[in-house]
Amino acid sequence: MNLLSAQNLSHTFDYQLFCNISLDLQEGDSIAIIGVSGSGKSTLLNILSTLLKPDEGTVSIFGEDVAKMSKKKLSQIKRDELGLVFQSHYLFKGFTCMENLEVAAILSNQEVDGELLKRLKIDETLNQKVTELSGGQQQRVSIARVLTKQPRLLFVDEPTGNLDKSTANEVMDIFFEYISKRNAGMILVTHDEDLAHRCHKVYKLTNKELVRVN
Ligand SMILES: Nc1ncnc2c1ncn2[C@@H]1O[C@H](COP(=O)(O)OP(=O)(O)O)[C@@H](O)[C@H]1O
Ligand SMILES: [Mg+2]
Repeated sequence: MNLLSAQNLSHTFDYQLFCNISLDLQEGDSIAIIGVSGSGKSTLLNILSTLLKPDEGTVSIFGEDVAKMSKKKLSQIKRDELGLVFQSHYLFKGFTCMENLEVAAILSNQEVDGELLKRLKIDETLNQKVTELSGGQQQRVSIARVLTKQPRLLFVDEPTGNLDKSTANEVMDIFFEYISKRNAGMILVTHDEDLAHRCHKVYKLTNKELVRVN
């Protein structure tokens, strides 16, 4: 079964960003979407992750059309199964790192994984307020928070923007290991072609279409 399936998506803001885009994500799969700035990558990711309704087309998660799901079912899926790693990471600002992670752990009934914190190199910043951390550290806390809830679907938008190349690669290793271990799926938006090519499939958003490039 597809974890996620998108059919004939179209969306317009001031101008039409894309039309007739279809995409399938299977268990254990990773898909990268590349494209120039302004081509609509983040908008597409917002639609795939159910944050934004498309003008046309459908998104199905675990075989069920998101637009036809009950509010309750959709909230449960968002809370337990969807992991969003976006540029604006929405950590709770007045809280420490650990408090941010504990909120995620409690909501999803999972444990905070100490090994993961070490690998993300945030195990020594746990008692600091998130506002005291660098952009790169905040990014890694938000990644830890997302993985703590053990989602089946990861949506990742320019995850390595705040990170140096070697930290970026280590963070990506963690995502790839996670999806293969949990049989999860990932849709990654990036302008970094080297990073994109670590995914199973690479698509380019260009001229309003999604074109497979590998
Ligand atoms: N909520 C919005 N309202 C109006 N226009 C938007 C909105 N979100 C994005 N846009 C516009 O849509 C275009 C594509 O944006 P985006 O999806 O962020 O592209 P990318 O991620 O590829 O850089 C841009 O011109 C942007 O200004
Ligand atoms: Mg973007």
